[in-house]
Amino acid sequence: MNHSEQPHLSPQRSAATDAFWRTLHDAATQPYRAAGKFAWHFARGKLGRDPVFRGMLERGDLLQGRVVDIGCGQGLLASLLHQCTQLADAGRWPATWPAAPRATTYTGIELMPRDVRRAKAAVGTLQLAGGGTPRFVCGDMCSTPLPACELVVILDVLHYVDHAAQDAVLRRVHEALHPRGRLLLRVGDMADAGGFRISQWVDMLVTWVRGHRAPPTWGRSVAEWTTALQSLGFAVRAVPMSAGTPFANVLLVADRT
Ligand SMILES: C[S@@+](CC[C@H](N)C(=O)[O-])C[C@H]1O[C@@H](n2cnc3c(N)ncnc32)[C@H](O)[C@@H]1O
Repeated sequence: MNHSEQPHLSPQRSAATDAFWRTLHDAATQPYRAAGKFAWHFARGKLGRDPVFRGMLERGDLLQGRVVDIGCGQGLLASLLHQCTQLADAGRWPATWPAAPRATTYTGIELMPRDVRRAKAAVGTLQLAGGGTPRFVCGDMCSTPLPACELVVILDVLHYVDHAAQDAVLRRVHEALHPRGRLLLRVGDMADAGGFRISQWVDMLVTWVRGHRAPPTWGRSVAEWTTALQSLGFAVRAVPMSAGTPFANVLLVADRT
């Protein structure tokens, strides 16, 4: 939980860390075979192509402790956290990476019942570092109670609700977090008009492929997101998250001060 000990830059990649990432990718997506063809292929593609997951591990963004994953989809982060603990305990964690994250509890909150069913089928019985199993709640982030926690992760979710609702969620996240806890919030930067528009198209397509109605979305610039978080009492730094993609994604690392 000591923020100052955590490096902010990704260390150089090597053949050894690339090989480790392939092992982790295989292990974390394996449970989705049990949840059907769609769940399996979606997990493989998402974890393999989205730079946010490997990046969070390389930088040590994922603080140890109780984790709340808002808009968790089919619970990929729960599987990743479980496998990080397994591989670290087996002595296979890369020496050049920050310590492996250890989720003592995991609560995933997801609006779509179909995703919650896939999450429970795939990863509902995996053991976490705290000894328990992931908990999935089918509910709206705007009204579902948030348990006390050290880490909240919100990846590509807040833009589904309007600005007032976004602010209300962020306020409740701040209240739920331990005084030295952290929010990892990935957003599209509306100041980058081209990348933001591409993100929206892809978002609508993926939402439709996953069998959901594509909702309207509400964006902000990174400067506006940062101001909103700072006004709640977070110290914020932005990590560009678009390398190798056409998107305007940014990961905001927001520490409760
Ligand atoms: C783009 S997906 C991201 C999924 C996951 N966070 C990831 O990165 O793999 C957005 C998710 O947020 C969920 N979502 C949208 N509005 C929500 C709400 N009001 N409450 C809870 N979940 C919501 C969607 O159903 C979807 O699963």
